[in-house]
Amino acid sequence: MTRPKGAISPYLAPGFYDRALEEGRHRDIVGGRWDETGRLQMRLLTEAGLRPHHRLLDIGAGALRLGCRAVPYLEPGHYWATDASHALMERGRQVELADPARLPPDRLIGDAEFSLPGVPADIDFAIAFAVFTHLPAERLDTALRSIRARCPSLTALLFTVFLAPDAEAARGALRQPDGVVTHPARPPYHRLAGDVAASAQSAGFTLEFRADRLPRGQVLAFARPANQGGGDARDR
Ligand SMILES: C[S@@+](CC[C@H](N)C(=O)[O-])C[C@H]1O[C@@H](n2cnc3c(N)ncnc32)[C@H](O)[C@@H]1O
Repeated sequence: MTRPKGAISPYLAPGFYDRALEEGRHRDIVGGRWDETGRLQMRLLTEAGLRPHHRLLDIGAGALRLGCRAVPYLEPGHYWATDASHALMERGRQVELADPARLPPDRLIGDAEFSLPGVPADIDFAIAFAVFTHLPAERLDTALRSIRARCPSLTALLFTVFLAPDAEAARGALRQPDGVVTHPARPPYHRLAGDVAASAQSAGFTLEFRADRLPRGQVLAFARPANQGGGDARDR
């Protein structure tokens, strides 16, 4: 992935999406590892309780690496995706879905601000995989508040971050378990676990980090609405 030096996100480089789509690189620009990462996201969600009758929101969905598995699994119309690039999601719908008709075009929502326009209130699960790893901390804060406000029936939100072990280490570049080098103030970003938890808490979530080993050394954050009694979505 081309990373313009100093940019707050590689996805903000002018013409980034147009060029990649022209060159047929819709898989590459979401990080490659297509089958492995799509399968992994499905496993994480089904372990969290996702079932075909639930409604799933895929935030920063890219070229539908998850969507090409979630759409056939879920009841028709139960998958929503947002991304800064609507064209990238649409390419995924056309090229990667076994049956594009199972995903109505209005389920793909261009949204670079995490304001979630048009997302229905009855979303059960949300996921943002490898999205906040590329964005500065305040974008996570915004997204968490927005998800909490727009998805009142949410059972769980899964998202990934890179973590730094302590404040001293967080100040500089860090080599993550898979070899990726992360940074405090440019992408890919690392954060302190306590800061991510505080951000989730102030948006109205309780948060735990899971031990799952994820591609590139990302860590899985598992957030639940704070006022939820801890019921299991498999019961619903
Ligand atoms: C590494 S890719 C991961 C895509 C997808 N979650 C997956 O696992 O295949 C990161 C995605 O975040 C999207 N993205 C970057 N900045 C964004 C923003 N401000 N709002 C919404 N999506 C954004 C990019 O377009 C890209 O599709």
